Amino acid sequence: MSKNRSWGGRFAGGTHAATAAYTQSQSFDRALYRQDILASRAHAAMLGRQCIISLEETKIILAGLDRVLEEIDSGHFTWKPELEDVHMNIEARLIELVGDAGKKLHTGRSRNDQVGLAFRLYVADSVTRWQSEAVSLCDTLTKRAAEHKGDILPGCTHLQPAQPISLAHHLLAYAWMFRRDVERLDDALKRVRVSPLGAAALAGATYPLDPLSVAREVGFETVYSNSMDAVSDRDFALETLFCAAAIMMHLSRLCEEIILWANPAFGFVRLPDGYATGSSIMPQKKNPDVAELMRGKTGRVYGALTALLTVMKALPLAYNRDMQEDKEAFFDVEATVEASLRIMAGMLNELEFRVDKMREACRRGFLNATELADYLVGKGLPFREAHHAAGQAVAEAERHGKGLESLSLSELRAIEPRVERDVHATLDYAAAVRRRETPGGTGPRSVKRQLKQMQRWVDGRNRQSAG
Ligand code: ARG
Repeated sequence: MSKNRSWGGRFAGGTHAATAAYTQSQSFDRALYRQDILASRAHAAMLGRQCIISLEETKIILAGLDRVLEEIDSGHFTWKPELEDVHMNIEARLIELVGDAGKKLHTGRSRNDQVGLAFRLYVADSVTRWQSEAVSLCDTLTKRAAEHKGDILPGCTHLQPAQPISLAHHLLAYAWMFRRDVERLDDALKRVRVSPLGAAALAGATYPLDPLSVAREVGFETVYSNSMDAVSDRDFALETLFCAAAIMMHLSRLCEEIILWANPAFGFVRLPDGYATGSSIMPQKKNPDVAELMRGKTGRVYGALTALLTVMKALPLAYNRDMQEDKEAFFDVEATVEASLRIMAGMLNELEFRVDKMREACRRGFLNATELADYLVGKGLPFREAHHAAGQAVAEAERHGKGLESLSLSELRAIEPRVERDVHATLDYAAAVRRRETPGGTGPRSVKRQLKQMQRWVDGRNRQSAG
Protein backbone atom coordinates (compact mmCIF):
# COMPACT_ATOMS: atom_id res chain seq x y z
CA MET A 1 0.00 0.00 0.00
CA SER A 2 1.22 3.48 -0.76
CA LYS A 3 -0.27 6.96 -0.57
CA ASN A 4 -0.33 9.51 -3.37
CA ARG A 5 0.14 12.97 -1.88
CA SER A 6 -1.00 14.86 -4.99
CA TRP A 7 -4.60 13.70 -4.83
CA GLY A 8 -4.64 11.68 -1.61
CA GLY A 9 -6.40 14.23 0.63
CA ARG A 10 -9.70 12.41 0.75
CA PHE A 11 -8.18 8.90 0.92
CA ALA A 12 -7.84 7.13 4.24
CA GLY A 13 -6.35 3.92 2.84
CA GLY A 14 -3.46 3.51 0.41
CA THR A 15 -3.38 2.14 -3.12
CA HIS A 16 -2.67 -1.55 -3.69
CA ALA A 17 0.70 -2.07 -5.30
CA ALA A 18 -1.04 -3.93 -8.13
CA THR A 19 -3.42 -1.01 -8.70
CA ALA A 20 -0.56 1.46 -8.78
CA ALA A 21 1.32 -0.69 -11.28
CA TYR A 22 -1.78 -1.15 -13.41
CA THR A 23 -2.75 2.52 -13.57
CA GLN A 24 0.65 4.20 -13.76
CA SER A 25 1.80 5.68 -17.03
CA GLN A 26 5.09 7.30 -16.05
CA SER A 27 7.03 4.32 -17.39
CA PHE A 28 6.02 5.34 -20.93
CA ASP A 29 4.52 8.83 -20.84
CA ARG A 30 7.81 10.25 -19.57
CA ALA A 31 8.48 10.56 -23.30
CA LEU A 32 6.28 13.68 -23.06
CA TYR A 33 8.51 15.49 -20.57
CA ARG A 34 9.72 18.21 -22.93
CA GLN A 35 6.22 18.99 -24.12
CA ASP A 36 4.86 18.92 -20.56
CA ILE A 37 7.50 21.36 -19.37
CA LEU A 38 7.02 23.65 -22.38
CA ALA A 39 3.28 23.77 -21.67
CA SER A 40 3.80 24.30 -17.93
CA ARG A 41 6.15 27.21 -18.62
CA ALA A 42 3.51 28.81 -20.84
CA HIS A 43 0.82 28.22 -18.20
CA ALA A 44 2.95 29.70 -15.41
CA ALA A 45 3.79 32.77 -17.50
CA MET A 46 0.10 33.29 -18.25
CA LEU A 47 -0.85 32.92 -14.56
CA GLY A 48 1.66 35.69 -13.82
CA ARG A 49 0.47 37.98 -16.62
CA GLN A 50 -3.12 37.56 -15.51
CA CYS A 51 -2.13 38.37 -11.89
CA ILE A 52 -3.41 34.97 -10.73
CA ILE A 53 0.00 34.39 -9.16
CA SER A 54 2.70 36.99 -8.60
CA LEU A 55 5.39 37.68 -11.20
CA GLU A 56 7.95 36.69 -8.59
CA GLU A 57 6.26 33.29 -8.23
CA THR A 58 6.19 32.92 -12.01
CA LYS A 59 9.93 33.55 -12.13
CA ILE A 60 10.59 30.97 -9.46
CA ILE A 61 8.42 28.38 -11.25
CA LEU A 62 10.08 29.01 -14.62
CA ALA A 63 13.57 28.66 -13.13
CA GLY A 64 12.47 25.49 -11.32
CA LEU A 65 11.02 23.98 -14.50
CA ASP A 66 14.28 24.71 -16.28
CA ARG A 67 16.13 22.79 -13.61
CA VAL A 68 13.74 19.85 -13.87
CA LEU A 69 14.28 19.83 -17.63
CA GLU A 70 18.04 19.78 -17.13
CA GLU A 71 17.77 16.93 -14.66
CA ILE A 72 15.70 14.83 -17.04
CA ASP A 73 17.85 15.67 -20.08
CA SER A 74 21.01 14.68 -18.22
CA GLY A 75 19.54 11.50 -16.75
CA HIS A 76 19.67 12.76 -13.17
CA PHE A 77 15.93 12.76 -12.57
CA THR A 78 14.42 10.11 -10.32
CA TRP A 79 11.12 8.88 -11.73
CA LYS A 80 8.69 7.74 -9.06
CA PRO A 81 6.12 5.14 -10.10
CA GLU A 82 3.87 6.09 -7.18
CA LEU A 83 3.46 9.53 -8.77
CA GLU A 84 1.58 7.90 -11.64
CA ASP A 85 2.53 9.92 -14.66
CA VAL A 86 4.98 12.35 -16.19
CA HIS A 87 2.89 15.35 -15.15
CA MET A 88 2.85 14.54 -11.43
CA ASN A 89 6.48 13.48 -11.43
CA ILE A 90 7.53 16.84 -12.84
CA GLU A 91 5.25 18.86 -10.58
CA ALA A 92 6.38 17.01 -7.46
CA ARG A 93 10.04 17.57 -8.31
CA LEU A 94 9.33 21.25 -9.00
CA ILE A 95 7.82 21.59 -5.54
CA GLU A 96 10.80 19.80 -3.99
CA LEU A 97 13.12 22.23 -5.76
CA VAL A 98 11.32 25.58 -5.32
CA GLY A 99 8.87 25.02 -2.47
CA ASP A 100 5.59 26.90 -2.11
CA ALA A 101 5.61 28.74 -5.45
CA GLY A 102 5.70 25.35 -7.17
CA LYS A 103 2.44 24.42 -5.47
CA LYS A 104 0.72 27.21 -7.43
CA LEU A 105 1.59 25.90 -10.90
CA HIS A 106 -1.51 23.72 -11.10
CA THR A 107 -3.86 26.70 -10.47
CA GLY A 108 -6.69 26.73 -13.02
CA ARG A 109 -5.43 23.58 -14.66
CA SER A 110 -6.29 19.88 -14.53
CA ARG A 111 -4.30 16.93 -15.70
CA ASN A 112 -7.05 16.45 -18.26
CA ASP A 113 -6.29 19.60 -20.21
CA GLN A 114 -2.60 19.32 -19.30
CA VAL A 115 -2.18 15.88 -20.86
CA GLY A 116 -4.20 16.99 -23.89
CA LEU A 117 -1.80 19.82 -24.63
CA ALA A 118 1.37 17.82 -23.96
CA PHE A 119 0.19 14.99 -26.19
CA ARG A 120 -0.85 17.38 -28.97
CA LEU A 121 2.58 19.01 -28.87
CA TYR A 122 4.17 15.57 -29.04
CA VAL A 123 2.00 14.46 -31.97
CA ALA A 124 2.74 17.71 -33.83
CA ASP A 125 6.50 17.10 -33.41
CA SER A 126 6.16 13.55 -34.73
CA VAL A 127 4.13 14.71 -37.72
CA THR A 128 6.80 17.22 -38.64
CA ARG A 129 9.47 14.52 -38.54
CA TRP A 130 7.41 12.09 -40.64
CA GLN A 131 6.82 14.83 -43.16
CA SER A 132 10.49 15.54 -43.52
CA GLU A 133 11.25 11.80 -44.00
CA ALA A 134 8.42 11.47 -46.52
CA VAL A 135 9.71 14.49 -48.48
CA SER A 136 13.19 12.89 -48.55
CA LEU A 137 11.64 9.71 -49.87
CA CYS A 138 9.87 11.68 -52.62
CA ASP A 139 13.22 13.27 -53.41
CA THR A 140 14.89 9.85 -53.73
CA LEU A 141 12.07 8.49 -55.89
CA THR A 142 12.30 11.56 -58.15
CA LYS A 143 16.07 11.28 -58.50
CA ARG A 144 15.92 7.55 -59.30
CA ALA A 145 13.09 8.26 -61.75
CA ALA A 146 15.17 10.93 -63.49
CA GLU A 147 17.91 8.32 -64.06
CA HIS A 148 15.43 6.02 -65.82
CA LYS A 149 13.39 8.30 -68.05
CA GLY A 150 14.24 6.19 -71.09
CA ASP A 151 13.86 2.70 -69.60
CA ILE A 152 10.74 0.65 -70.07
CA LEU A 153 9.14 -2.26 -68.25
CA PRO A 154 5.84 -4.12 -68.40
CA GLY A 155 3.09 -2.20 -66.63
CA CYS A 156 0.61 -4.59 -65.02
CA THR A 157 -3.03 -4.68 -64.11
CA HIS A 158 -4.17 -7.72 -62.10
CA LEU A 159 -0.39 -8.37 -61.87
CA GLN A 160 -0.62 -9.48 -65.52
CA PRO A 161 1.37 -7.75 -68.29
CA ALA A 162 -0.74 -4.88 -69.63
CA GLN A 163 1.15 -2.14 -71.48
CA PRO A 164 4.76 -0.99 -71.51
CA ILE A 165 5.50 1.97 -69.29
CA SER A 166 8.50 4.04 -68.39
CA LEU A 167 10.33 3.05 -65.20
CA ALA A 168 10.39 6.73 -64.25
CA HIS A 169 6.60 6.82 -64.47
CA HIS A 170 6.30 3.74 -62.25
CA LEU A 171 8.59 5.23 -59.58
CA LEU A 172 6.88 8.61 -59.75
CA ALA A 173 3.52 6.96 -59.03
CA TYR A 174 4.89 6.26 -55.54
CA ALA A 175 6.24 9.80 -55.20
CA TRP A 176 2.71 11.10 -55.75
CA MET A 177 1.39 8.78 -53.03
CA PHE A 178 3.90 10.00 -50.47
CA ARG A 179 3.32 13.60 -51.51
CA ARG A 180 -0.38 13.13 -50.76
CA ASP A 181 0.61 11.68 -47.38
CA VAL A 182 2.63 14.80 -46.57
CA GLU A 183 -0.28 17.01 -47.58
CA ARG A 184 -2.75 14.89 -45.63
CA LEU A 185 -0.56 15.43 -42.56
CA ASP A 186 -0.58 19.19 -43.21
CA ASP A 187 -4.33 19.04 -42.98
CA ALA A 188 -4.33 16.89 -39.85
CA LEU A 189 -1.89 19.32 -38.22
CA LYS A 190 -4.51 22.07 -38.36
CA ARG A 191 -6.53 20.05 -35.88
CA VAL A 192 -3.56 18.79 -33.85
CA ARG A 193 -2.30 22.30 -33.19
CA VAL A 194 -5.23 23.41 -31.04
CA SER A 195 -4.59 24.00 -27.35
CA PRO A 196 -7.05 22.53 -24.81
CA LEU A 197 -5.36 24.26 -21.85
CA GLY A 198 -7.91 26.31 -19.90
CA ALA A 199 -10.62 23.67 -20.22
CA ALA A 200 -9.36 22.47 -16.82
CA ALA A 201 -11.10 19.29 -15.62
CA LEU A 202 -14.04 19.66 -18.02
CA ALA A 203 -16.00 22.83 -17.29
CA GLY A 204 -13.44 25.61 -17.60
CA ALA A 205 -12.08 27.53 -14.61
CA THR A 206 -13.03 30.35 -12.28
CA TYR A 207 -9.74 32.24 -12.76
CA PRO A 208 -9.31 34.89 -15.45
CA LEU A 209 -7.21 32.59 -17.65
CA ASP A 210 -5.98 33.59 -21.10
CA PRO A 211 -5.86 30.29 -23.01
CA LEU A 212 -5.05 31.88 -26.37
CA SER A 213 -1.80 33.37 -25.08
CA VAL A 214 -0.77 29.92 -23.81
CA ALA A 215 -1.54 28.41 -27.21
CA ARG A 216 0.54 31.06 -28.99
CA GLU A 217 3.42 30.65 -26.59
CA VAL A 218 3.70 26.93 -27.31
CA GLY A 219 3.46 27.61 -31.05
CA PHE A 220 -0.19 26.72 -31.66
CA GLU A 221 -2.57 29.14 -33.37
CA THR A 222 -5.91 28.34 -31.81
CA VAL A 223 -7.76 27.08 -28.75
CA TYR A 224 -10.79 24.88 -28.11
CA SER A 225 -14.31 26.27 -28.28
CA ASN A 226 -15.92 23.85 -25.83
CA SER A 227 -14.13 22.75 -22.68
CA MET A 228 -15.81 19.32 -22.56
CA ASP A 229 -14.88 18.59 -26.15
CA ALA A 230 -11.37 19.91 -25.47
CA VAL A 231 -10.53 17.38 -22.75
CA SER A 232 -12.21 14.40 -24.37
CA ASP A 233 -11.09 14.89 -27.97
CA ARG A 234 -8.58 12.42 -29.38
CA ASP A 235 -9.59 12.96 -33.04
CA PHE A 236 -6.24 14.64 -33.61
CA ALA A 237 -4.42 11.44 -32.65
CA LEU A 238 -6.81 9.28 -34.66
CA GLU A 239 -6.41 11.38 -37.78
CA THR A 240 -2.65 11.27 -37.40
CA LEU A 241 -2.79 7.50 -36.95
CA PHE A 242 -4.87 7.22 -40.10
CA CYS A 243 -2.24 9.25 -41.97
CA ALA A 244 0.38 6.88 -40.56
CA ALA A 245 -1.66 3.87 -41.70
CA ALA A 246 -1.87 5.34 -45.21
CA ILE A 247 1.90 5.91 -45.27
CA MET A 248 2.52 2.31 -44.23
CA MET A 249 0.01 1.06 -46.81
CA HIS A 250 1.90 2.94 -49.52
CA LEU A 251 5.25 1.68 -48.24
CA SER A 252 3.88 -1.84 -48.08
CA ARG A 253 2.76 -1.71 -51.72
CA LEU A 254 6.22 -0.55 -52.74
CA CYS A 255 7.76 -3.32 -50.60
CA GLU A 256 5.58 -5.89 -52.32
CA GLU A 257 6.84 -4.78 -55.73
CA ILE A 258 10.44 -4.81 -54.58
CA ILE A 259 9.97 -8.34 -53.22
CA LEU A 260 8.43 -9.52 -56.51
CA TRP A 261 11.01 -7.72 -58.60
CA ALA A 262 13.86 -9.28 -56.61
CA ASN A 263 12.56 -12.77 -57.38
CA PRO A 264 14.61 -14.19 -60.29
CA ALA A 265 11.34 -14.95 -62.12
CA PHE A 266 11.11 -11.17 -62.55
CA GLY A 267 14.75 -10.27 -61.95
CA PHE A 268 13.99 -6.55 -62.29
CA VAL A 269 16.10 -5.45 -59.30
CA ARG A 270 19.22 -6.49 -57.44
CA LEU A 271 18.85 -5.85 -53.72
CA PRO A 272 21.67 -3.86 -52.15
CA ASP A 273 23.64 -6.10 -49.76
CA GLY A 274 23.02 -3.68 -46.92
CA TYR A 275 19.27 -4.18 -47.22
CA ALA A 276 19.08 -7.96 -47.61
CA THR A 277 19.85 -11.01 -45.49
CA GLY A 278 20.96 -14.56 -46.18
CA SER A 279 19.58 -17.94 -45.21
CA SER A 280 21.10 -20.16 -42.54
CA ILE A 281 20.60 -23.24 -44.72
CA MET A 282 20.35 -22.24 -48.39
CA PRO A 283 23.63 -20.66 -49.49
CA GLN A 284 22.20 -19.07 -52.64
CA LYS A 285 19.58 -17.02 -50.82
CA LYS A 286 19.40 -13.25 -50.68
CA ASN A 287 16.19 -12.41 -48.93
CA PRO A 288 14.30 -9.09 -49.05
CA ASP A 289 13.73 -9.10 -45.27
CA VAL A 290 13.73 -5.33 -44.93
CA ALA A 291 10.88 -4.99 -47.41
CA GLU A 292 9.07 -7.95 -45.86
CA LEU A 293 9.33 -6.55 -42.35
CA MET A 294 8.12 -3.16 -43.48
CA ARG A 295 5.13 -4.84 -45.12
CA GLY A 296 4.59 -6.71 -41.84
CA LYS A 297 4.90 -3.65 -39.62
CA THR A 298 1.99 -2.14 -41.51
CA GLY A 299 -0.17 -4.47 -39.45
CA ARG A 300 1.01 -2.92 -36.20
CA VAL A 301 0.16 0.55 -37.41
CA TYR A 302 -3.32 -0.46 -38.55
CA GLY A 303 -3.66 -2.15 -35.17
CA ALA A 304 -2.88 1.08 -33.32
CA LEU A 305 -5.51 2.98 -35.31
CA THR A 306 -8.09 0.29 -34.63
CA ALA A 307 -7.10 0.15 -30.96
CA LEU A 308 -7.58 3.87 -30.39
CA LEU A 309 -10.83 3.98 -32.36
CA THR A 310 -12.05 1.19 -30.12
CA VAL A 311 -10.83 2.90 -26.94
CA MET A 312 -12.75 6.04 -27.87
CA LYS A 313 -16.01 4.41 -28.93
CA ALA A 314 -18.79 4.76 -26.36
CA LEU A 315 -16.78 6.97 -24.00
CA PRO A 316 -19.14 9.33 -22.23
CA LEU A 317 -18.10 12.97 -21.87
CA ALA A 318 -15.65 14.13 -20.75
CA TYR A 319 -12.17 12.77 -19.83
CA ASN A 320 -12.04 9.05 -19.05
CA ARG A 321 -8.97 7.16 -17.91
CA ASP A 322 -9.38 4.82 -20.90
CA MET A 323 -7.79 7.62 -22.88
CA GLN A 324 -4.43 6.99 -21.26
CA GLU A 325 -4.25 4.07 -23.70
CA ASP A 326 -3.67 6.56 -26.53
CA LYS A 327 0.03 6.98 -25.86
CA GLU A 328 1.70 3.60 -26.16
CA ALA A 329 -0.13 2.99 -29.43
CA PHE A 330 1.06 6.31 -30.77
CA PHE A 331 4.65 5.92 -29.57
CA ASP A 332 4.91 2.58 -31.33
CA VAL A 333 3.53 4.03 -34.55
CA GLU A 334 5.74 7.09 -34.33
CA ALA A 335 8.93 5.06 -34.28
CA THR A 336 7.72 2.59 -36.91
CA VAL A 337 6.68 5.23 -39.44
CA GLU A 338 9.80 7.34 -39.07
CA ALA A 339 12.19 4.40 -39.37
CA SER A 340 10.26 2.84 -42.25
CA LEU A 341 10.28 6.01 -44.33
CA ARG A 342 13.98 6.52 -43.74
CA ILE A 343 14.98 2.96 -44.48
CA MET A 344 12.89 2.85 -47.65
CA ALA A 345 14.68 5.95 -48.96
CA GLY A 346 18.04 4.34 -48.15
CA MET A 347 17.12 1.08 -49.85
CA LEU A 348 15.78 2.82 -52.98
CA ASN A 349 18.92 4.90 -53.21
CA GLU A 350 21.02 1.78 -53.58
CA LEU A 351 18.57 -0.44 -55.43
CA GLU A 352 19.96 -1.63 -58.78
CA PHE A 353 17.37 -1.65 -61.56
CA ARG A 354 17.99 -4.40 -64.14
CA VAL A 355 16.71 -2.39 -67.08
CA ASP A 356 17.87 -5.08 -69.54
CA LYS A 357 15.58 -7.61 -67.84
CA MET A 358 12.73 -5.12 -67.78
CA ARG A 359 13.07 -4.41 -71.51
CA GLU A 360 13.30 -8.11 -72.22
CA ALA A 361 10.14 -8.82 -70.20
CA CYS A 362 8.19 -6.40 -72.38
CA ARG A 363 8.51 -8.99 -75.17
CA ARG A 364 6.54 -11.53 -73.15
CA GLY A 365 2.83 -11.01 -72.66
CA PHE A 366 1.79 -9.15 -75.84
CA LEU A 367 2.13 -5.71 -74.27
CA ASN A 368 1.75 -4.17 -77.73
CA ALA A 369 -1.72 -5.63 -78.41
CA THR A 370 -3.40 -2.31 -77.58
CA GLU A 371 -1.01 -0.65 -80.07
CA LEU A 372 -2.26 -2.93 -82.82
CA ALA A 373 -5.88 -2.16 -81.94
CA ASP A 374 -5.19 1.60 -81.88
CA TYR A 375 -3.33 1.25 -85.20
CA LEU A 376 -6.39 -0.36 -86.78
CA VAL A 377 -8.59 2.42 -85.39
CA GLY A 378 -6.24 4.77 -87.26
CA LYS A 379 -6.96 2.76 -90.42
CA GLY A 380 -10.68 3.35 -90.00
CA LEU A 381 -11.91 0.37 -87.94
CA PRO A 382 -14.31 1.02 -85.05
CA PHE A 383 -12.49 0.29 -81.77
CA ARG A 384 -14.54 -2.82 -80.91
CA GLU A 385 -13.69 -4.44 -84.26
CA ALA A 386 -10.06 -3.37 -83.97
CA HIS A 387 -9.93 -4.95 -80.50
CA HIS A 388 -11.31 -8.21 -81.91
CA ALA A 389 -8.80 -8.30 -84.79
CA ALA A 390 -5.88 -7.57 -82.46
CA GLY A 391 -7.13 -10.42 -80.24
CA GLN A 392 -7.02 -12.76 -83.23
CA ALA A 393 -3.48 -11.64 -83.97
CA VAL A 394 -2.50 -12.44 -80.36
CA ALA A 395 -3.98 -15.94 -80.71
CA GLU A 396 -2.07 -16.44 -83.98
CA ALA A 397 1.23 -15.25 -82.48
CA GLU A 398 0.70 -17.41 -79.40
CA ARG A 399 0.20 -20.47 -81.66
CA HIS A 400 3.59 -19.80 -83.21
CA GLY A 401 5.21 -19.02 -79.88
CA LYS A 402 6.28 -15.51 -80.88
CA GLY A 403 5.44 -11.88 -80.25
CA LEU A 404 3.02 -9.76 -82.31
CA GLU A 405 5.94 -7.83 -83.77
CA SER A 406 7.30 -11.10 -85.21
CA LEU A 407 4.19 -11.81 -87.25
CA SER A 408 4.87 -11.08 -90.93
CA LEU A 409 2.95 -8.49 -92.86
CA SER A 410 1.08 -11.22 -94.75
CA GLU A 411 0.19 -13.06 -91.52
CA LEU A 412 -1.25 -9.82 -90.12
CA ARG A 413 -3.05 -9.03 -93.38
CA ALA A 414 -4.66 -12.45 -93.35
CA ILE A 415 -6.36 -11.37 -90.12
CA GLU A 416 -7.13 -7.79 -91.14
CA PRO A 417 -6.52 -6.58 -94.71
CA ARG A 418 -6.26 -2.94 -93.65
CA VAL A 419 -2.84 -3.63 -92.07
CA GLU A 420 -0.03 -1.87 -93.99
CA ARG A 421 3.77 -1.69 -94.02
CA ASP A 422 3.91 0.88 -91.20
CA VAL A 423 2.48 -1.66 -88.71
CA HIS A 424 5.81 -2.90 -87.34
CA ALA A 425 6.93 0.57 -86.30
CA THR A 426 3.70 0.81 -84.28
CA LEU A 427 4.39 -2.46 -82.52
CA ASP A 428 7.69 -1.23 -81.08
CA TYR A 429 7.47 -1.24 -77.26
CA ALA A 430 9.40 1.95 -76.59
CA ALA A 431 7.34 3.72 -79.25
CA ALA A 432 4.20 2.62 -77.41
CA VAL A 433 5.45 4.46 -74.32
CA ARG A 434 6.43 7.53 -76.34
CA ARG A 435 2.93 7.87 -77.78
CA ARG A 436 1.16 8.11 -74.43
CA GLU A 437 1.30 11.84 -73.94
CA THR A 438 -2.10 12.43 -72.38
CA PRO A 439 -1.70 14.54 -69.21
CA GLY A 440 -0.20 12.35 -66.49
CA GLY A 441 0.49 9.53 -68.96
CA THR A 442 3.71 7.55 -69.30
CA GLY A 443 4.95 9.48 -72.36
CA PRO A 444 8.31 11.30 -72.09
CA ARG A 445 6.87 14.82 -72.07
CA SER A 446 4.41 13.90 -69.33
CA VAL A 447 7.16 12.22 -67.31
CA LYS A 448 9.44 15.24 -67.73
CA ARG A 449 6.63 17.48 -66.50
CA GLN A 450 6.06 15.22 -63.46
CA LEU A 451 9.76 15.18 -62.63
CA LYS A 452 9.82 18.96 -62.70
CA GLN A 453 6.65 19.31 -60.63
CA MET A 454 7.87 16.84 -58.04
CA GLN A 455 11.37 18.29 -57.76
CA ARG A 456 9.94 21.79 -57.40
CA TRP A 457 7.62 20.61 -54.66
CA VAL A 458 10.42 18.77 -52.80
CA ASP A 459 12.68 21.83 -53.00
CA GLY A 460 9.85 24.08 -51.82
CA ARG A 461 9.13 21.85 -48.81
CA ASN A 462 12.82 21.70 -47.95
CA ARG A 463 13.14 25.49 -48.15
CA GLN A 464 10.03 25.88 -46.00
CA SER A 465 11.35 23.60 -43.26
CA ALA A 466 14.80 25.19 -43.36
CA GLY A 467 13.37 28.73 -43.15
N1 ARG B 1 -1.92 9.87 -17.27
C1 ARG B 1 -3.22 10.39 -17.66
C2 ARG B 1 -3.40 10.20 -19.17
O1 ARG B 1 -2.46 9.91 -19.83
C3 ARG B 1 -3.28 11.83 -17.32
C4 ARG B 1 -4.64 12.34 -16.99
C5 ARG B 1 -5.18 11.77 -15.75
N2 ARG B 1 -6.27 12.48 -15.27
C6 ARG B 1 -7.00 11.98 -14.31
N3 ARG B 1 -7.92 12.71 -13.84
N4 ARG B 1 -6.78 10.81 -13.83
O2 ARG B 1 -4.48 10.29 -19.71
